Amino acid sequence: MLDLTQRPRRLRRTAALRELVAETDVLARQLITPHFVVSGQDRVEPIATMPGIARMSVDRLVEQVEADVELGLRAHLLFGISEDKDERGNVAADPSGPVGSALVALKERFGDEIVLITDVCLCAYTTHGHCGVLEGETICNDASVEQLCNMALTHAKAGAHIVSPSDMMDGRVGAIRARLDENGFEEVAILAYSAKYASAYYGPFRDACNSSPKGDRQTYQMDIRNGREAMREVLLDLEEGADMVMVKPALAYLDIVAAACEVTHKPIVVYNVSGEYAMVKNAAANGLGDEARLVRENLLSMRRAGADLIITYHGREAIAQGWL
Ligand code: PBG
Ligand code: ZN
Repeated sequence: MLDLTQRPRRLRRTAALRELVAETDVLARQLITPHFVVSGQDRVEPIATMPGIARMSVDRLVEQVEADVELGLRAHLLFGISEDKDERGNVAADPSGPVGSALVALKERFGDEIVLITDVCLCAYTTHGHCGVLEGETICNDASVEQLCNMALTHAKAGAHIVSPSDMMDGRVGAIRARLDENGFEEVAILAYSAKYASAYYGPFRDACNSSPKGDRQTYQMDIRNGREAMREVLLDLEEGADMVMVKPALAYLDIVAAACEVTHKPIVVYNVSGEYAMVKNAAANGLGDEARLVRENLLSMRRAGADLIITYHGREAIAQGWL
């Protein structure tokens, strides 16, 4: 017989023992649910590349959120989809657009029982699909920031609890903070997409939002080869007043999540993006793995890496089916 004093298997022997010593959980309260909002009424348009996810008009969105709240999903992230685009993305700041109307309707129905988060970016509102204002071939940083400030203020006025800039322009967190404060919205928080990479995992989202850019986003989103630079971005956003920071995408960037935990005690959010969602859905549909277990394992890995909160398209199904 082996003479072993260390036997890690002792604590894996029964399910009850494993439950007792488990280090991480994924709970409904830690999940943020994205929604794609369109204008009009009674519109539910399934997104082909994201099985189970649809674009919705505000009336149907309110019903969806009602069902989500029943499941315990209280944090909701709104993306607007606009048919009315221009060069500078002016419509992004229109209070009567899909996001403005959704905020008003959701605020009226749920008040402060839920958390309303809005995406602040121009790409769904510009004809060229870039996240900023284009002059010639160049994305103009400061002109873009001005537009983003207008957009964030519109969202704050309409009732957003948190605004979330996803554009990756320099200085936008500080500028948005100042604009909100000047207008009496000191209590509206900023969730900054701090380390957002120029990733190949955003394809289905761009279908959903009809926001594929002419060219690519490499002059503003981060180079996938860089890790230390992500910490600079995180620290800058914190200095500028970010209340929470985000790493995006999730699965290929868990090293960045872990590193971000070392530089701040503010909440860390990870975005389990559309391409990651679509890969799991496709794998499961093709019999390559059990969806429940794949989803649980992926979401747990994000929490284990140190993410406090996860933006994910899996939440609704995962909670309803008891996958977590
Ligand atoms: C753009 C934006 C993107 C996502 C959220 N906001 C992608 C992009 O850069 O085109 C991706 C989300 C996802 O893939 O689920 N501001
Ligand atoms: Zn964008």
